[in-house]
Amino acid sequence: MPDTLTITDNRTGKTYELPIADGTIRAVDLRQIKTDPDDFGLMPYDPAYMNTASCKSRVTFIDGDLGILRYRGYPIDQLAEDASFLEVAYLIYHGQLPNAGQLKTWTEDITRHVMIPEGVARSLQGLRHDAHPMGTFVSNVAALGTFYPEAKNVGDAATRRKQIFRLVAKVPTLAAFAYRHRKNLPFVYPDQELSYAGNFLSMLFRKTEIRYKPNPVLERALDILFILHADHEQNCSTSTMRLVGSSHTEPYTAVAASAAALYGPLHGGANEAVLAMLREIATKDRIPEFVKKVKNGEGRLMGFGHRVYKNYDPRARIIKRTADEVFEVTGKSPLIDIAVELERIALEDEYFIKRKLYPNVDFYSGIIYEALGFPSDMFTVLFAIPRTIGWLTQWDEMLQDPDQKIGRPRQIYLGYDERQFVPMDKRE
Ligand code: CMC
Repeated sequence: MPDTLTITDNRTGKTYELPIADGTIRAVDLRQIKTDPDDFGLMPYDPAYMNTASCKSRVTFIDGDLGILRYRGYPIDQLAEDASFLEVAYLIYHGQLPNAGQLKTWTEDITRHVMIPEGVARSLQGLRHDAHPMGTFVSNVAALGTFYPEAKNVGDAATRRKQIFRLVAKVPTLAAFAYRHRKNLPFVYPDQELSYAGNFLSMLFRKTEIRYKPNPVLERALDILFILHADHEQNCSTSTMRLVGSSHTEPYTAVAASAAALYGPLHGGANEAVLAMLREIATKDRIPEFVKKVKNGEGRLMGFGHRVYKNYDPRARIIKRTADEVFEVTGKSPLIDIAVELERIALEDEYFIKRKLYPNVDFYSGIIYEALGFPSDMFTVLFAIPRTIGWLTQWDEMLQDPDQKIGRPRQIYLGYDERQFVPMDKRE
């Protein structure tokens, strides 16, 4: 059976045979399909990239119908059960799990970069006292890049690697400083003796104690949340990283662009929107009325639905389990009962069944974040911290891929044909 696709153009009667590789045809192969020599050639039209592979990748595998997520071949539930975030970050970047020595070196390589330049801390203080931490985060990741001009040398593997250490190390510090600024509290500088998640909690919540001691259950829960958010193949923010990176922008600015894409309520901003929604619903008896409104097209059920998952998002299942462990320490959030009941009602409803709408990662994450002590405007920042390694790994992969060039989609132009300029006094 030949791996080819035969296309007959009914406009001309001509037949073309296109090669199929990895279950795809090359869009440029369609260009030979023309009605006459002056014709530009056929193009695929795919707004929102519903069915377009933009790259080859070896990082993350998702089967949306079966609800499978794997980093470098390892199922997400096994990683969340047994690994630490930095171990998973190593796996994502290097493609293999580290041995003990490799993990130690990797951890040291990252930890030595946890401080941020004072100039960035000062620039952060120049923002409004009530600045949304995600706005602060986006602008200051970009500001960070101005301190490392060598980062522009994106063609050099060692330079890229150095920026990856820096960025993975510094994003929690930036995030914590954004939080402390919002709270009008003095910054807490990093503590290298603590774990990645433990140090982050310390920079956020340390008060007057000499050393902050994170609660091990909460520290582990945050580490698991970081693992679950570390990568998710070619989503909106990762595609932004690849697109911005394809013009050879330095990685700090490209990460800022990716974080900006993540900020939106249809992407990483959904967890914040879920909490607002659960608060609006307020009591279980109001759920049917809320669901009815959603079905009538008055807003969406936030934290439900996914472009790729047409089954239960495996991350949502792990988060739900982790939430129970967190609540044993923090006490139960009243919102969890509303969320569980909302999920039950939605999953029995024809509207959601027909459209294959299931809870996604954001449905339960906000409830845990709140229990951990985070205000809701920090939630998307908590998504951006672990996703940084995913963005950077995909960026690194893209820069080494000989198939890749500067990203530049085509358009279907539907505007005016040529018109003559009309002077102001002749215009209606
Ligand atoms: N509530 C109600 N209806 C929905 C929802 C929802 N959350 N999501 C999709 N639908 C309906 C939509 O109205 C459409 O119905 P119809 O066919 O009658 O027009 C159908 O389902 C297909 O929706 P779509 O908009 O074509 O699907 P999409 O793949 O473009 O959108 C999505 C995916 C995640 C943007 C969308 O499901 C959504 O807006 N969900 C709520 C926001 C959310 O939770 N986002 C977090 C995504 S997971 C975290 C991440 O990776 O960022």
